[in-house]
Amino acid sequence: MSFNRTIKIAPSILSADFANFGEEIRCVEAQGADWIHVDVMDGHFVPNITFGPSTCAAIRPHISTIMDVHLMIAPVDLYVEAFAEAGADVITAHVEAGAHIHRSLQAIRANGAKAGVALNPGTPASAVMHLLDIADLVCVMTVNPGFGGQSFIPLESKVAELRAMIGDRPIHIEIDGGVTPLTAPGLVNAGADVLVAGSAVFKGGSVSNPAAYGLNINAIRAAVA
Ligand code: DX5
Ligand code: ZN
Repeated sequence: MSFNRTIKIAPSILSADFANFGEEIRCVEAQGADWIHVDVMDGHFVPNITFGPSTCAAIRPHISTIMDVHLMIAPVDLYVEAFAEAGADVITAHVEAGAHIHRSLQAIRANGAKAGVALNPGTPASAVMHLLDIADLVCVMTVNPGFGGQSFIPLESKVAELRAMIGDRPIHIEIDGGVTPLTAPGLVNAGADVLVAGSAVFKGGSVSNPAAYGLNINAIRAAVA
């Protein structure tokens, strides 16, 4: 997984058909997805439950791009090895998930994955200041995590602050929540390079109408070009 700052669209399978992940993933990749974003929720750190490492392992062979696993769970460290073994390329943990986010990022790297750190909307950019030497990605949540399809919280100034803090380091800035062709340009101008999009990619499409996914992905790409 080589580093660059080109814009990457990462559809979140939270908005896909849960009974048909394999085909949904093949469809969005064929329609231009750069990464596949996988939302893991535990019903404790966030008020919703999705799935765990065994589902991640089951879908891994269907992903030919990058498997980007977003852990909305607490505790984190107990499960890092299982998600790495499931084949995650990137594992992102929340800075709010426990007292020892630095240790969690160390554990993610020690297990061979890229380490991401996510910030809830209410958490300041400075929370990652002392984590930048051990992080490969910073995820800025632009909704309160837990559900797809929520309205966007404008945090472009936080993105710009992070971009300045990161400087030349090879660290991605990912945005998660409410990304659409309308909200994406301000985020990219502020320094984001990975755009997670659930409802904005999957709306209007299905595995029998995958062209809609392509139109949706291209609309986001065109908006930021
Ligand atoms: C929210 C998840 C997101 C979600 C985004 O808790 O982390 O990845 O799927 O969904 P949209 O793009 O619909 O806001
Ligand atoms: Zn997510």
